[in-house]
Amino acid sequence: MKAKIAVLAGDGIGPEVTTQAQRVLQVIADNWDHTFEFEDALVGGAAIDAVGDPLPDSTLKTCRESDAVLFGAIGGPKWDDPNAKIRPEQGLLRLRRGLDAFANIRPVKPHPDLLEAAPLKADRLENVDLVVVRELTGGIYFGKKTRDADRATDECAYSVPEIERIVRVAARIAADRSGQLTSVDKANVLETSRLWRATTERVIRDEFPQVRLEHVLVDAAAMHLLQKPAAFDVIVTENMFGDILTDEASVLAGSMGLLPSASLSDDGPGLYEPIHGSAPDIAGLGIANPYAAILSASMLLRHSLKLEEEADVVERAVWRVIHEGVLTTDLAGEGKRSVNTQAAGDAVCEIVATSTPCM
Ligand code: NAD
Ligand code: IPM
Ligand code: MN
Repeated sequence: MKAKIAVLAGDGIGPEVTTQAQRVLQVIADNWDHTFEFEDALVGGAAIDAVGDPLPDSTLKTCRESDAVLFGAIGGPKWDDPNAKIRPEQGLLRLRRGLDAFANIRPVKPHPDLLEAAPLKADRLENVDLVVVRELTGGIYFGKKTRDADRATDECAYSVPEIERIVRVAARIAADRSGQLTSVDKANVLETSRLWRATTERVIRDEFPQVRLEHVLVDAAAMHLLQKPAAFDVIVTENMFGDILTDEASVLAGSMGLLPSASLSDDGPGLYEPIHGSAPDIAGLGIANPYAAILSASMLLRHSLKLEEEADVVERAVWRVIHEGVLTTDLAGEGKRSVNTQAAGDAVCEIVATSTPCM
């Protein structure tokens, strides 16, 4: 097949990990006889520095004209002035909105060989295999904002159609798995959460009788995620709760550098990005873990290009190199033998290159 992939590497470790993900995609193209046309575009701090805008019109146009977008990370101390009017993060938020990429899918499945990398007791991590479906284009991120000298506000708003569509995505995923769906909200305090809960109940009752729905308050969910993570299967939640809970969930996997994501719209290109940021503390050292970016590329193959077999090959290759002990420092631990970003990418490419297509 022929596909056009926009590559928005961004800032900090964004370019370092995206390079490896792109290499893996190229190996897939070579081996399976696909043509992937990559087009680089500016985003985030790099775009502010170049043209004064974290999401130039030309970048959004490139993305809209592509089949999928491979995204690295944005942000960093250089652009972090709390009084700045223009920020790298605005570029990512406008991109998500611009693509209507409302359904952010963040799978969390700890590798059995990494149970020691997590600070939790290993037995708590057995059988953990969950998916967080995060609403990505609404809520407090996109509500009206005000700022005076001595007061600031961020409005949190959700409409029924916004809730319905994310619940449907999550329910479909749950129906394909165990049938269990956990909706996380703060319905004991927030009006948006009460609307969220009522809408979720109606959608599941009317459209997904095979799905078992439970509601959990976000503060309790944060605790359960560490105390009994294996009890979760599919979690659906609003934008900000999903942001926080998935960084927390990365601890289960052993590192931020392991969690990929797909952000999907009803039509139009999907956006694929690791859940981590630009990691200023390690940027430029060439030691970032590229597996989250590579696994995001696997999600790109699966969801946007419908290349299931190729997606599986990439996922299994990452799984295997971890089993073989090809670990960056975040996974290996300080002072232990580890590999750099490039070597981790090499290892995945090597396995993908020797995987033959099933004819
Ligand atoms: P971060 O995710 O960048 O880093 C948190 C910690 O995890 C750091 O110690 C970092 O070294 C480590 N880490 C993250 N990714 C890693 C990887 N691939 N390999 C090894 N270690 C990794 O979060 P932060 O420090 O809170 O934010 C830094 C900047 O990134 C901020 O400007 C923030 O706005 C931005 N950010 C961007 C995105 C995105 O582009 N999608 C996501 C989160 C944060
Ligand atoms: C993420 C990030 C972003 C978010 C920031 C950088 C805007 O933390 O993708 O999880 O909050 O959604
Ligand atoms: Mn986040």
